[in-house]
Amino acid sequence: MPHVSPWWSEEPTVTALETSYGPSVDGTDPTEGFIIELEGRPVGFIQRYRLDDYPAWCEALGIERAAGIDYMIGVAELIGVGLGPIIVDSFTKLTFERYPDIDRMGVAVQQANHRSWRTLEKAGYVRVFEGMIESDDPSDAGPSYVYIRAR
Ligand SMILES: CC(C)(COP(=O)(O)OP(=O)(O)OC[C@H]1O[C@@H](n2cnc3c(N)ncnc32)[C@H](O)[C@@H]1OP(=O)(O)O)[C@@H](O)C(=O)NCCC(=O)NCCS
Repeated sequence: MPHVSPWWSEEPTVTALETSYGPSVDGTDPTEGFIIELEGRPVGFIQRYRLDDYPAWCEALGIERAAGIDYMIGVAELIGVGLGPIIVDSFTKLTFERYPDIDRMGVAVQQANHRSWRTLEKAGYVRVFEGMIESDDPSDAGPSYVYIRAR
């Protein structure tokens, strides 16, 4: 979808999806992915992971004992109506329950993605960094913000 593609780097092909998400479905990658449902209708995707499981990313963010999330609402008429903060707040609480060993959440977002970083702020996250992040992932290109939310 045009509102997702600037911020989400995968090609919309089955092969690219298999490469990115197959290992977590198979259990060989510790990231956990979920479909977001609204009254039984699939409307988005959200995933979580311990930063410590991805040392290069952990080092790039400079945050330890933390978990990260990535999220999207895939239905154009459902963005900009306030669902994002509810989703992120609820999933953050579930992630603290899921990983009792983490102290905080740590999420990087491109500064140009106003909707996303405002969503984090409305879900109780606090900005702790602004600048460039060392990453090979095109989704992290350009100036970024890093947000955290303590347990
Ligand atoms: C990011 C996302 C989950 C946010 O959810 P949402 O339900 O759209 O969020 P909200 O409706 O609460 O809007 C969040 C903020 O964006 C603002 N916003 C809405 N439409 C906007 C637009 N066209 N341009 C800029 N900001 C906009 C809202 O006003 C709100 O800010 P405010 O509180 O200062 O008014 C959703 O937009 C999405 O899936 N985007 C595409 C994928 C993506 O970017 N994922 C994140 C990758 S890090």
